[in-house]
Amino acid sequence: MNHARLEKNIGLMALMMVLAISVGGLTQIVPLFFQDVTTKPLADMRPRSALEVEGRDVFIANGCVGCHSQMIRPLRAETERYGHYSLAGESAWDHPFLWGSKRTGPDLARVGKRYSDAWHVAHLLDPRSLVPESVMPAYPFLAQTPVDGSHTARKLQTLRALGVPYTDAEIAGAEAAVRGKTEMDALVAYLQGLGTAIKAGQ
Ligand code: HEC
Repeated sequence: MNHARLEKNIGLMALMMVLAISVGGLTQIVPLFFQDVTTKPLADMRPRSALEVEGRDVFIANGCVGCHSQMIRPLRAETERYGHYSLAGESAWDHPFLWGSKRTGPDLARVGKRYSDAWHVAHLLDPRSLVPESVMPAYPFLAQTPVDGSHTARKLQTLRALGVPYTDAEIAGAEAAVRGKTEMDALVAYLQGLGTAIKAGQ
């Protein structure tokens, strides 16, 4: 019997398992690369401004993704707390995406416009001034650190090469757009844009 032979031969068994999982995985994963719903940005999405792009890099550099996901799952407990579940198209221009997998703090996928800019600044300077039981670190140095704009234009250029529709004018003006701004300004601008495309439209 073929099956008995398969079960007694560990090499053959491993090979067949890899084959079965690969075929199963590919039939689920490959179609996603060709479906508009997973690859196309939402209709009324705009590319992040130069300042927001810098803010995103501040978010990455300070490890915020280690405590905050940006991915609301289509479960009632999540949508009631955070809002509409995340759509694949919302991440179409994110390189790399920041969905995360750890929620020491709340999900941030729809935090944009939930608080004022002043709230975010006060919270980042000293989280416990607003939420006494918070375990989030304070980031007061962001307000003292100017944004280094010398690479901003090239960042937008790179994003354009990856499919984000920046205009020549936006790239040419990128360095000027972040001049005089602090990393705090950039981070708050980024946070305020999170998840707002879907609030405006769908
Ligand atoms: C050690 C884990 C940790 C890190 C790192 C961290 N946070 Fe938090 N964050 C939390 C916790 C816990 C809360 C909930 C309590 C509070 O509001 O302070 C929170 C709350 C927030 C909120 C309010 C969310 C809401 O819906 O009320 C924002 C915005 C936020 N964090 C942004 C950031 C940013 C930006 C960074 C990086 C500069 C960051 N966090 C880094 C743990 C963390």
